Amino acid sequence: MADAVLELEGLTKRYPKLVALDGVSLRIEAGEIFALLGPNGAGKTTLIGAVCGLVKPTSGLIRLFGAAETGSTVAARYQLGLVPQEINFDPFFTVRECLRIQQGYYGRQPDEARIDEVLGALKLAEKADAPTRALSGGMKRRLLVAKALVHRPRLVFLDEPTAGVDVELRRDLWQYVRKLRAEGTTIVLTTHYLEEAEELADRVGVIDHGKLLLVEPKAALLSRLGERRLTVRLSSALAELPEGARLEGAVLEDGGTRVVYRERRGEKSSAEVLGALYAAKLPIAEVETASSSLEEVMMRVLREGGAAR
Ligand SMILES: Nc1ncnc2c1ncn2[C@@H]1O[C@H](COP(=O)(O)OP(=O)(O)OP(=O)(O)O)[C@@H](O)[C@H]1O
Ligand SMILES: [Mg+2]
Repeated sequence: MADAVLELEGLTKRYPKLVALDGVSLRIEAGEIFALLGPNGAGKTTLIGAVCGLVKPTSGLIRLFGAAETGSTVAARYQLGLVPQEINFDPFFTVRECLRIQQGYYGRQPDEARIDEVLGALKLAEKADAPTRALSGGMKRRLLVAKALVHRPRLVFLDEPTAGVDVELRRDLWQYVRKLRAEGTTIVLTTHYLEEAEELADRVGVIDHGKLLLVEPKAALLSRLGERRLTVRLSSALAELPEGARLEGAVLEDGGTRVVYRERRGEKSSAEVLGALYAAKLPIAEVETASSSLEEVMMRVLREGGAAR
């Protein structure tokens, strides 16, 4: 098993009127991209805040970088990067000053070359000397990402890094996140854009009402809870499916003009299904296959709660 960069055991955060984190145990492995997904108010930002020392847990353990001592110590926190959900920089500093200050906060020597590298990667070089208040919303978000990375952290939390970011930049950011991972950085990402998680994540955790409902490699989750669909358009309408075409999971839809075959666990290959429909002499005109997206799978997990495990 790879080394753990972060281990949580029974992490709980109680507020007077609600439990924001309810006994969360989780292990984040070195070098992975982990997507923490869940609806508004699920506890994602609270979990990140607890690890980064911004939220005081009520109980439970946080172990960073396999350190023997438990807790999120200052030395360990120097190796964390956080892209917070809310914009949090001083509007009167310039972009470059803001990054210099960040390096200082994290106990690093000034490193202008690193600042230029990060500004370049996030397409902010032109704005290096602009006051941060003069940035557009998307640029502010990019600066948050730059700030989180300028001190070369080992573990980075991206709390909805692409909210309000345009499509092109979102793709640039994805590419940059992959590059970071290739360099050995571990990444924990929260996002409401599930295609983003689908694109980037190695593993997915789903949290709701402070409880971690499941943790699973993305590909395994998609094949376990996803559905495969094979849609066959017919050149003439049928009143009902002929005997040989009555496969389990096959239904006639759209006024008898298409057969939709749905299945969960890859019991039959598309070729087998098509073979059966062909042998039953269905007037096949066109065939289409599709698989569930992470979004569909997530909706199912949230609907069924822990039962989807
Ligand atoms: N300081 C606080 N006092 C009381 N309740 C709080 C506090 N901070 C957060 N909460 C509550 O804790 C719960 C979890 O909030 P959290 O910000 O972790 O959710 P989230 O999963 O990040 O949601 P979102 O997707 O909207 O960002 C919410 O019900 C929230 O209202
Ligand atoms: Mg949040």
